[in-house]
Amino acid sequence: MIKPIFCIFSFTLFIFTCNAAVQDFCVADLTGPQGPAGYSCKSPSNVTANDFVFTGFRKAGNTTNLIKAAVSPAFDAQFPGVNGLGVSIARLDLAPAGVIPMHTHPGASEILIVVQGSIVTGFVSNANQVFVKKLLKGDVMVFPQGLLHFQINGGGSTAVAFASFSSANPGLQITDFALFGNTLPSMLVEKTTFLDDAQVKKLKAVLGGSG
Ligand SMILES: *[C@@H]1O[C@H](CO)[C@@H](O)[C@H](O)[C@H]1NC(C)=O
Ligand SMILES: *[C@@H]1O[C@H](CO)[C@@H](O)[C@H](O)[C@H]1NC(C)=O
Repeated sequence: MIKPIFCIFSFTLFIFTCNAAVQDFCVADLTGPQGPAGYSCKSPSNVTANDFVFTGFRKAGNTTNLIKAAVSPAFDAQFPGVNGLGVSIARLDLAPAGVIPMHTHPGASEILIVVQGSIVTGFVSNANQVFVKKLLKGDVMVFPQGLLHFQINGGGSTAVAFASFSSANPGLQITDFALFGNTLPSMLVEKTTFLDDAQVKKLKAVLGGSG
């Protein structure tokens, strides 16, 4: 949030007091570049109610894919109203046997609520401690910022969850794709993962990598 500082000199107390003036909102101007602090603000006169409403969760995400799951983000790039507010949300759809593979959000902690079905989920701490639970409909789990975590459909039916984040742009890095879904040479992947060449080539084929 952008808070210009206003300083007032008090003649009775002979001190300066400085208060951060609160700017109500900074709806993203998506035509400009995105910096570490998010997007620049759209002119308030051009802001409408639609900027504060996201309708992309009405339909389930498409789970016809390798992971049998879909993550539909409502981050600042999709939901301009959250820009500068330090919050965002995503919808997760997991078909039976669906999985959101091990991943991190470098910029945010996450709170997950299951609204349909069940989900086996967990995270791994920096101390390599493992925290895993099966969540039922209505259950909530929190994932500390930056830690590796995953979600797996915990039953035989479709599971749906919503994840909220402590950032308008949490970031998403999926470990499988970082290792096997790009052009990082197989020799280097083998060195860093202790997998053999055949295993790495097989995973690269599955996850869309080359080299
Ligand atoms: C508001 O939007 C219109 C149309 O996109 C644009 O031409 C105009 O420059 C904007 N006004 C401000 C103050 O940014
Ligand atoms: C879902 O994705 C698959 C694979 O990309 C595609 O063939 C299918 O048409 C999509 N379904 C819908 C409803 O968009």
